Amino acid sequence: MKGIILAGGHATRLRPLTKITSKQLLPVYNKPMIYYPVATLTQAGIKDILIIIAPEYAGQFLNLLGTGRDFGTKFTYEIQEKPRGLPDAFIIGEHFIGNDDVTMILGDNIFDYDFSEEIKNFTHGGLIFAKKVPDPARYAVVEFDNQHNVLSIVEKPKNPRSDYAVPGIYIFDNRASSFARKVKPSARGELEIPDVYNQYLALGELKVNIIESNWHDAGTFDSLLQANNYWAKKSMRS
Ligand code: TTP
Repeated sequence: MKGIILAGGHATRLRPLTKITSKQLLPVYNKPMIYYPVATLTQAGIKDILIIIAPEYAGQFLNLLGTGRDFGTKFTYEIQEKPRGLPDAFIIGEHFIGNDDVTMILGDNIFDYDFSEEIKNFTHGGLIFAKKVPDPARYAVVEFDNQHNVLSIVEKPKNPRSDYAVPGIYIFDNRASSFARKVKPSARGELEIPDVYNQYLALGELKVNIIESNWHDAGTFDSLLQANNYWAKKSMRS
């Protein structure tokens, strides 16, 4: 299993904080944000991680993270010239993924959850996650039946069909790259990740696991503050 952390993007919603640095380098309590997705992948046993970054901040990421030795893993870096959308990670990472499976995590998604079991037991197809949220319209929303078969997934729907958001971590076999290449830009000009997992869904090869533990998508002022408070409290308890 290889790992990809997608840590480019515009981060317009966090301006002016992100005028001089990348969102994923901002602090979340006592660490830069990207330490959390790095920990999510390394604690699940992933030893080979591609970090995709924007050209403006490439030097800062290299200074901070280095080879990966300090984290017990190996980092490879790629530049994403423009934020073309999440599926671009599988196109940029095609050679890196090679014949392996891949877990892709967004650099601003912070989980208090250990994905080791899911990663160890993954065999083929696609595995996404579902987390109950109060504001599903902000996310990709997944609708599923009693047996957890996926019925639909819609990106930022106006009328969500469930309260379950799809958090920014995806486990795919190596067809992810060829599926990503088939995706056409949406009305907002981006490649959309549901267009990748909907191809697994059409083949009946998409599974969803519900997670109940804490998850933050730290891309807004409020969610960034919540993530800071959560990890501060947790560290004071331990
Ligand atoms: P978003 O939060 O959807 O986008 P953004 O970070 O550019 O922020 P904003 O909407 O405020 O302008 O991105 C989710 C994560 O994926 C985040 O870690 C940035 C990353 N990303 C890329 O690296 N490349 C991309 O092409 C996109 C769309 C996102």
